[in-house]
Amino acid sequence: MLTATSPAPAPRGATESRLVVQVLPDAAAVARRAADLVAELLLAGGLRTFGVATGSTPSPVYAELAARGLPGWDGVRLFALDEYVGLPAGHPESYRAVIEREAAGPLGVPLDQVHVPDGTADDPRAAADAYEAALAAAGGADVQLLGIGANGHIGFNEPGSPLGSRTRVVDLDERTRADNARFFDSPAQVPHHAVTQGVATIGTARRHLLLATGAAKAEAVRAALEGPVGPACPASAVRLFTDVHVLLDTAAASLLTRA
Ligand code: GLP
Repeated sequence: MLTATSPAPAPRGATESRLVVQVLPDAAAVARRAADLVAELLLAGGLRTFGVATGSTPSPVYAELAARGLPGWDGVRLFALDEYVGLPAGHPESYRAVIEREAAGPLGVPLDQVHVPDGTADDPRAAADAYEAALAAAGGADVQLLGIGANGHIGFNEPGSPLGSRTRVVDLDERTRADNARFFDSPAQVPHHAVTQGVATIGTARRHLLLATGAAKAEAVRAALEGPVGPACPASAVRLFTDVHVLLDTAAASLLTRA
C-alpha cells in the first residue's frame, strides 16, 4: 500500500487540516479500508450522523460494515447526499430506496432515521431548503462517504457548481445521465434533475471518505487531487475540507503523479 499525505489549505477557523491519499490493490480493499474507518468511529461513539452516498463504489462499504455485525447502528442517523427529482415514490432506483435497501436495512438503522431529499415534492426547491436545514439541525455529518463522478462531480454537483453552493435543485449532465443509465431500463428513464447537497454543504461534515475505483475514474481523480481547486472539478473541493481520506484502487490512481 502506498500512502501519501499532502497538506490541504485550512478552511477559515480550522485548527488542523489533513488530506490522506491511500492507494489499495483493488475495489474490495478500498471498501474494507473505508469500513475500517467508519467502524472505528462508530465503536468510539463518534458516529451519530453518517453521510451516505449511492453508487457502485460506496455500496460494498455498507455490505462490509453489515458483515461485521457491529453494535450501535440503531442510534445512527443517515443523511443521503442527493436524490433524483421526478421518480415516483418507491421507485427502486430512487436514492431513498437505494439507501434503505443497501445501507439502512443491512446495517439495522431504523427507517425513521434515514434522511433523503424529497425528490417527489411539488416544490423541489422548498424540499432542498428543508433538507439543508434538517442536516444543519442534526449538527452536520460526523463522516461523509463520497464517490466521484467520471466528470468530477460529488453528490450531483456537476462541473460548474460553485464551491459555496448549498442544497439545491440541479440539472444533470448528459454524461452523468449516460453513466447512470445502467441502473434504469432505458437511458430515457434517467431523470434530468436532482436535489443535491451543495459543495459547501458537503464540506460541513467533520470528516470525509472519498472513494474511487476503476480506470474510468482516473482522470477525475487526477483533476480532483492535482488540478486547480475550483468549480470545473467540484471534487477538488475536498482539498479545502478539514479531515479527508481518499481511498483509491490502483486503476483510479493511475494518472496521479504524486501518490
Ligand atoms: C451518482 C451519485 C454520486 C456518485 C456517482 C458515481 O451520480 N450521485 O454520488 O458518486 O454516481 O457513482 P459510481 O460509484 O457508481 O461510479
